Parts: sequence; structure tokens; C-alpha cells
Amino acid sequence: MARDNTESSKEVSEVEKVMMSRFANRFYLHREVDLEAITGILNAARYAATGGNVQPWRVYVLAGAAKTALADAIATAHETASGEHKSEYNYLPAPLPEPFASRRNEFASVFYGSLGIAQEDMAARAVQSARNCRFFDAPVGLIFTIDRRLEKGSWLDLGMFIQNIMLAAKARGLDTCTQEFLSRYHAVIRTQLPLAAEELVVCGMSMGFGDPEWARRRPQMPKAPLEEFASLHGF
Ligand SMILES: Cc1cc2nc3c(=O)[nH]c(=O)nc-3n(C[C@H](O)[C@H](O)[C@H](O)COP(=O)(O)O)c2cc1C
Repeated sequence: MARDNTESSKEVSEVEKVMMSRFANRFYLHREVDLEAITGILNAARYAATGGNVQPWRVYVLAGAAKTALADAIATAHETASGEHKSEYNYLPAPLPEPFASRRNEFASVFYGSLGIAQEDMAARAVQSARNCRFFDAPVGLIFTIDRRLEKGSWLDLGMFIQNIMLAAKARGLDTCTQEFLSRYHAVIRTQLPLAAEELVVCGMSMGFGDPEWARRRPQMPKAPLEEFASLHGF
């Protein structure tokens, strides 16, 4: 699979540079994020396009003691009764068809390989995966919900809102990692946040200033080249 050719970014816009420099970061500095930055990011993100302008998202943004309390509760549930918690939706089908299964395997091999964890070392992978519970020690944790009465179309809209947040954060020097892992702990999240009955927990997100050491040595996730997903006609 081809790698990104970011060298050609001479000819790309500032927005495209932000899009291509974003990556799922799981290593953060212990540096707080200003409320002003958070509100700026959310303010920009709300301009996401939505079918019928229904704007189906809700987001809970936590820092300080609120984030710690939620992370502690999730970590305790994960350590003591992970089998009892299940997401309210399926993110991917099982079995995962091709070419998606190969891409996911490649992700695991690249990511865990970069941490010196062998792909078959399930115990070490579980330790890394458990870091999801604490938002990868990022200073800010977000929880995204959607009204369960809505359909697939609104989930597209939520994805655009989430992407806007990631890009606005990146443009301000902040990294993110979206986390579907957290959706399985919706019951725990309900004990900490005032979710209405119709709100379904879709995912979480870590946000903060990335560890520069990790940024230097992190692997670039392989991205399929244009020819694999685009079909151009009439040019
Ligand atoms: C909706 C969504 C959910 C994700 N959930 C998780 C997660 O639970 N834990 C995690 O470590 N990464 C999660 N990721 C990050 C992906 O693994 C990552 O985006 C993918 O491997 C591509 O890498 P890149 O974002 O660095 O390009 C998620 C990404 C998205 C978009």
C-alpha cells in the first residue's frame, strides 16, 4: 500500500496540510488546554454540513477532576468486568471482509510494531488498549452521543462534526484520537454525565498537546492510494 507523499504538500493549501498532518495520537504531554481553545474548536466544528441541517451531535468535554472521575470509573469497569460492557452498536462486522481485514491487520502490525509489541503478544496489546480508558492520559476527554431515534444519515453528519473537531484542534497545535472503544462503557458514562435516555454513546476522543518525541518516531499509518478508492471520469 502506498504511503502519503507529504513532500508534494508544497502545492497544497493550509487546510490540506492540516488534514494530512492529523494522526491518531495516543501519547500526550501533561500540559493543560485552555478553555478558550476548546470553545474555539467547538465553535468552528458546529459549521459542519448536515443533511437537513439537523445537527444531530452532542458532545461532553471533560478536563481536570471531571475527566479523572470518568476515566477512573471506566478503568475500574474495564479492569473488573470488561465482559459485562458492550457498545450499543456494531462498529465493524465480524468477520471483516477484504480489503478491510488486511488494512486492519496492517494497522495493528505497524502500530504495535512501533511500540516493540509483537502482534501475537495479546497481553501487551491489552495493556496498550486499556490506555483508552484514561483517554491515553490526554488532558481533555470528549464523549460524543447521537439521538438513537435518528438514522444512518445523521451518523454521517456526526462523523463530519468529529472530523471538524480533529482538524480545528490540529490547526491549533492540538492532537486527538477518536475512540470507539469508549462506547462499550456507555452505562458507566451515564453514571458520570447527564445523558438523556435517547442519547447513544458513539465514541470518545482524547485531545491534548502531543508528545514531540512520539511525533518524531511515530509510524505513518499506511493510506490506500487514489487508484484504490477513486474512479475518475471525463477529465
Ligand atoms: C471513529 C473512530 C474510532 C476510533 N476508535 C479508536 C479507539 O477506540 N482506540 C484507538 O486507539 N484508536 C481509535 N481510532 C483511531 C484509528 O485507529 C486511526 O484513526 C487509524 O488507525 C488511522 O490512523 P491515523 O488516524 O493516524 O491516520 C478511531 C478512529 C476513528 C475515526
